[in-house]
Amino acid sequence: MIVVGGSSSRDMSKELAMILECKYVQAATTRFPDGECYTRIEDDLMDDHVIIVQNTYPDENIIEMFLLQDAVKRLGAKSITCVIPYYGYARQDRIFKPGEPESAKVMAQRLELLCDRVITVDIHKEAVLRWFHCPAKDVKAAPAIGKYFQGRGIDLVLAPDIGASERAKMIANYIGAPYDHMEKVRISGTEVRISPAEIDCRGKSVLIVDDIISTGGTILAACEELHKQGAASISVACTHGVFANNALKRLTGSTVDSLLCCNTLENEVSNISVAPLVAEAIKEW
Ligand code: R5P
Repeated sequence: MIVVGGSSSRDMSKELAMILECKYVQAATTRFPDGECYTRIEDDLMDDHVIIVQNTYPDENIIEMFLLQDAVKRLGAKSITCVIPYYGYARQDRIFKPGEPESAKVMAQRLELLCDRVITVDIHKEAVLRWFHCPAKDVKAAPAIGKYFQGRGIDLVLAPDIGASERAKMIANYIGAPYDHMEKVRISGTEVRISPAEIDCRGKSVLIVDDIISTGGTILAACEELHKQGAASISVACTHGVFANNALKRLTGSTVDSLLCCNTLENEVSNISVAPLVAEAIKEW
């Protein structure tokens, strides 16, 4: 087996190769002066089962993934497994208004042209995987987040909305703490209204968990609500730290005491690794 690390996922792919005890090859990716992607696998032969680790977000990483698929195929890959830690466009999984594309499906149809298996991590809607005709599975990051917070004094795990409550439950089970969810109403793309959870948060060390932090609107509103209720400390953890529109800066300067995410998107707070879980999923196949 050979792990090829795309430019979006260098740390994670190296760790994955280490866990799987297999060869690691870093794709040499640069940009032409006009911004187009150039990539090269600096290895003569890949007549082995190849795992490419690369996000399909932001858009430029999608092109790199397509080019890497072609490059490893030409070098003789016996099979190609695409590990997509953050699957871009998963939130556009259906037609909301006439005239729109089914973006998540478009992505799957293009990606599977040169791939034998797909692994995603906490994909926004698991139903998206049905668009792949090859085997595809989604790895849940909750065990990695749960293990990280074991023994760190968390009294309560909260989901900012009902959609995230299953995740909160799994993480709470690891920690051995109760869990609950808040009520969220989305007002606009950046603004949400959050109502309190039923459990009393006063004086408690609360951990809020979600799948994605994008603009940070959801987490900021949840933290403000918890602050009003008198929570003693507020920790935030998510799988994918997208942090659009300077969200990381806004969150770190807010009522949030600690902020962490998984390394599906590598950034300065992506200290929880999902590589061991991805390795397990690969070994199971
Ligand atoms: C919503 O369904 C998701 O689970 C997240 O809560 C949402 O994507 C977060 O977005 P934002 O950070 O922009 O509020």
